[in-house]
Amino acid sequence: MSPALRPQGRSVNGGDPQAEERPPAGARHVAIIMDGNGRWAKKRALPRSLGHRAGVNALKRTVEGAAELGLEWMTVFGFSTENWSRPATEIAELMSLLKNYVRSDLARLEAEGARIRVIGRRSDLSPDVLEVIEHAEERTRNNDRFHLQVAFNYGGRADIAEAAGRYAAAIASGAVAPDEVGERAFGRFLSTAEGPPLDLIIRTSGERRLSNFLLWEAAYAELVFQDVLWPDYGPEHLKAALEEFESRERRYGGAEVDDVLAAG
Ligand code: IPE
Ligand code: IPE
Ligand code: MG
Repeated sequence: MSPALRPQGRSVNGGDPQAEERPPAGARHVAIIMDGNGRWAKKRALPRSLGHRAGVNALKRTVEGAAELGLEWMTVFGFSTENWSRPATEIAELMSLLKNYVRSDLARLEAEGARIRVIGRRSDLSPDVLEVIEHAEERTRNNDRFHLQVAFNYGGRADIAEAAGRYAAAIASGAVAPDEVGERAFGRFLSTAEGPPLDLIIRTSGERRLSNFLLWEAAYAELVFQDVLWPDYGPEHLKAALEEFESRERRYGGAEVDDVLAAG
């Protein structure tokens, strides 16, 4: 049996406060930094916008594949708080692609039992983008077969800073009791609070950094970097990343499982 699939009882929890949150088997929650659209377009002497459009098709394929592979939660990075530094035409393209993706795929996702959530700062988004987001969330709110979380105008630091503000207010008002103060209580104020713990972060295109994605949640996630450019991505790449995940032994700061078993 691969280490990641070992039953919980055999793992060494030590003093890990999140021990009971661990998935009993393979990955439940996978996040993807969908990177490389620009380089994909450049290689073909196409405008970057066509790279982003091809990236949406890759997202559609990958979401279908994720549900078929039995994943419960997927969080994808669609637009970062730093992406506002791109040219206005590119930003406009990314905004309209989000709208088009939701418009074209919402009915199918809804019928397949997917719940859509969008995380990230909403106040900077235009009313038409907000309307599409709110409509998609509302229409799928009773679904729970598959959870698709889209990080859009999302930054890990901004999310933590905003959560800290709400946390401080909740402590001041007594909504969080003094004896509750700690990691677990704080985590409930993050935009990702409703999902299971993050198991795996995938980044495509060969870059090896988080670029401000899910900083808190990444604490004990496994990281898999794949050289494929995002528009070329699909279920076969996701499957390969999950196989890599399953070959890892997650220790959470504890001792190596086989050493502990040998020591009795
Ligand atoms: C990822 O592709 C999409 C977004 C960041 C929105 P990029 O646009 O970053 O593509 P590269 O990294 O320039 O190739
Ligand atoms: C991260 O990719 C953001 C998204 C995929 C949406 P970037 O392409 O913006 O990240 P950097 O600039 O290479 O770090
Ligand atoms: Mg990039």
